[in-house]
Amino acid sequence: MQDLFDLSGEAQAGTESLAEGALVLHGFAVKQATALLAAIAEVGAVAPFRRMVTPGGYEMSVAMTNCGTAGWVTDRKGYRYARLDPESGKPWPALPPPLLALADAAAVMAGYVGFVPDACLVNRYEPGARLSLHQDRDEADYRHPIVSVSLGLPATFQFGGLKRSDPVKKVPLRHGDVVVWGGPSRLVHHGVLTLKDGEHPATGRCRFNLTMRKAL
Ligand code: SIN
Ligand code: FE2
Repeated sequence: MQDLFDLSGEAQAGTESLAEGALVLHGFAVKQATALLAAIAEVGAVAPFRRMVTPGGYEMSVAMTNCGTAGWVTDRKGYRYARLDPESGKPWPALPPPLLALADAAAVMAGYVGFVPDACLVNRYEPGARLSLHQDRDEADYRHPIVSVSLGLPATFQFGGLKRSDPVKKVPLRHGDVVVWGGPSRLVHHGVLTLKDGEHPATGRCRFNLTMRKAL
């Protein structure tokens, strides 16, 4: 019976194509979720979550931190990758091995071989937080894909097109789902709709997202 159960579990954990070069891997990170959440807690203990300010002067509703050689930051001076955490002046915590392994495996599933991220943005959404439509374009080389892991409360991911005005798909993302986009979809506009209130057994009243990139 256990085997049958596992098989049906595998079948449900399907893949969904969003566009050329972009894939949702449903449930791909479920088995690693506990290890990933432990890694997030360790990162947060060294480089605490903070709400950064946009160049326009708005405080973001999503709290962020980073691990890896470089971390994504924003302040009045602009968006960029920084090797040092501006709050502490120290390097970001290293990218934990379970994240590197997951990034590689997910990228391969979407056809990107040899993906080695050097930056992981860790987003924490509390109910009411949202991330408006944007492109990830602060990275040096767009030939590398983006691997994005959802943990905790469900959210609606917006996946649009290369132009901001292009139609936007609404993609429900749940605990353990992974989205990979690259190649012709690398510069697609994407965002996250306002997080609904709820309680998740693994994270409580929040959603985490890990976005792994080759930034430098
Ligand atoms: C991001 O675009 O940085 C995050 C996407 C997400 O939270 O799913
Ligand atoms: Fe993004």
